[in-house]
Amino acid sequence: MARESWTSRLGFILAAVGSAVGLGNVWRFPWMTAEYGGSAFLVVYLCIVLLVGVPGLLAEFVIGRRSKRNPAGALARLAPGTKSWGFVGLFGVVTALVLLSFYSVVGGWILRYFAASFTGSYFSQSGAYFETISFGWQAAAFHVGFLALTAAIVLGGIRGGIEAATKAMMPLIVVLLAVLAGWAISQPGAGEGLSFYLNFDPAPIEENPVGMLRAAAGQALFTLSLGVGTMITYASYLGEDNSLAFDGSVIAILNTGIGVLAGFVVFPLLFALQGGLTNVTAGGEAGAIFIGVAGAFQQVPFGRAVAVAFFGAILFAALSSSISMLEIPVAYLVDEHDVSRRSATVGLAALVLVTGSICAFDPRLFDFVAGTLMDLMLTAGLAGFLVFTGWILGTDALAEYDSGAGGLARSLGAPWLWSVRTILPFFLLATLALNLYSLL
Ligand code: TRP
Repeated sequence: MARESWTSRLGFILAAVGSAVGLGNVWRFPWMTAEYGGSAFLVVYLCIVLLVGVPGLLAEFVIGRRSKRNPAGALARLAPGTKSWGFVGLFGVVTALVLLSFYSVVGGWILRYFAASFTGSYFSQSGAYFETISFGWQAAAFHVGFLALTAAIVLGGIRGGIEAATKAMMPLIVVLLAVLAGWAISQPGAGEGLSFYLNFDPAPIEENPVGMLRAAAGQALFTLSLGVGTMITYASYLGEDNSLAFDGSVIAILNTGIGVLAGFVVFPLLFALQGGLTNVTAGGEAGAIFIGVAGAFQQVPFGRAVAVAFFGAILFAALSSSISMLEIPVAYLVDEHDVSRRSATVGLAALVLVTGSICAFDPRLFDFVAGTLMDLMLTAGLAGFLVFTGWILGTDALAEYDSGAGGLARSLGAPWLWSVRTILPFFLLATLALNLYSLL
């Protein structure tokens, strides 16, 4: 069977933005920003997105478009004669399954809150509510529901499933978030939230520079869906020769813009309605922001409608990301082992049903996988892809990068390849070492 492709350039861009925009923007980003001191974190994070994220994104695009394969097949194919590079790709395939296992649990929480927003059942005791539903059989049940939605879209294939779904969901996410942000900013007391978010204060950087750098790097990779091979896989369905540099920049800008927009919803809400961050992050837990925002809806007119819009937007964002995770191992089985898309999707969903349920029952395992393990695997994975692009593909990478590129992009090609060969892998390996060190 001929390999599928996107119907258009816009389809590819929206699918990639859909992958990038997800719980990382609306849940992990405000959580990290709150934990590392607000605006200072924002600045460091934006720098890393620009200097490490975008070049990394381009490296994955180059590998994907050149090989037209899943990550494992791509690296094996582009480096004939050496088996070991295939394993680096395979590591990405495994990472995707680990990632989806915890992501689908959080997706299940969102699904649950979305459904409960219609009745407002969590409004009066948002903390206790989160306690009851976040782990245990209820969490497992909603994880399965979220996973089923994910699998249903992936089953539809590239054009009919992923492209169609992201084309419908992305505009909705932007409209919902923009309306919510306008509303949140106009709440009395929102100004304090805005200044926490936007008034630059370097003190947190000076206090804990290494911790902040690690967190900002991890968040930058996570939010751009890097280090797993998502972007290799999506670029492998590119038919025509677009400018990868242009598409990559558009994707990074949209992703960052939507992330920052989500901050304009979350921070004003937390400050205006919950009296600041200390009241909700006292435990420092990942769920704290969740509880804080959810609890805020109780106090506003038409709270249920606002809550439905809020969790609806997040649900779409989460789904357009989770499909990009499932698609990696599906593409692997379809490309390399001649499995049909249907059997691959159903079989892998069954596997994640089990691994995700384990996360749903074990909060400590969940924390470890969602935090530490993910940072380690994504950093290692992206370092591998960069070394591969810089040293194995080398000038071929530049040729692929140049194909379809305009004048400005071409002039940036050589510095891009240079950084991919040298400082970027070095930066990632140093981050990896710091992460491992803090683990021990
Ligand atoms: N970027 C997505 C988010 O912000 C999550 C995601 C999708 C992802 N695919 C990925 C993260 C691959 C790392 C790797 O929610």
